[in-house]
Amino acid sequence: MEQLIIKNGSTITIRKANKLDAEAMLEYLDKISKESDNLTFGNGEFKLTLEQEENFIDNISKQNNAIFLIAEIDGKIIGNLSFAGGSKPRIAHTGEFGVSVLKDYWGQGIGTYLIEYLINWSKESGIIRKVNLRVRSDNYSAIHVYKKLGFIEEGLITRDLFINGNFFDSISMGMKID
Ligand SMILES: CC(C)(COP(=O)(O)OP(=O)(O)OC[C@H]1O[C@@H](n2cnc3c(N)ncnc32)[C@H](O)[C@@H]1OP(=O)(O)O)[C@@H](O)C(=O)NCCC(=O)NCCS
Repeated sequence: MEQLIIKNGSTITIRKANKLDAEAMLEYLDKISKESDNLTFGNGEFKLTLEQEENFIDNISKQNNAIFLIAEIDGKIIGNLSFAGGSKPRIAHTGEFGVSVLKDYWGQGIGTYLIEYLINWSKESGIIRKVNLRVRSDNYSAIHVYKKLGFIEEGLITRDLFINGNFFDSISMGMKID
């Protein structure tokens, strides 16, 4: 758990989630599905039940190569990061993460803090050697954050997303953990 002061002066807490967070997490995911076209799910398209979300968070907390982070202000979820390494030995050292922040809190440094927490955790995990991500090629603020933190562009995935009748490419980015 970490407490940080963001740019507007508020204190945020970044911590690992547990299954008691599942209900608030589903509400959070429903909210961000309406706020951004840069995610793999659109308005109302995140359809896990409470039990499925509880199991998802619980499973991650039992793995040494996965992490599910929450950023909170006064107990309210305002950001999230989820990373999972592979389940087989040859891919256990590598995984992909997704990150999001509620729109009201964009530009306060919260996305940066969540990813920094992931990088530090990866270095200390003793297992993670590579962190990957995919980002819509026109998501300039996210790409800026990833490059600022040291992620390198590794490739272009064409037609990765299909949103409102249009295809969008994704950039594949990665960071080696030594
Ligand atoms: C991407 C996201 C997680 C970033 O979170 P955040 O808390 O706003 O990020 P930060 O405040 O740490 O950093 C934002 C940076 O983008 C920069 N930025 C903002 N608009 C930008 C633009 N149009 N082009 C380039 N950089 C931009 C800011 O200046 C800031 O950089 P700085 O720290 O060097 O000043 C957040 O915008 C989000 O949830 N977006 C919707 C979901 C999403 O796109 N997730 C990523 C999917 S791969």
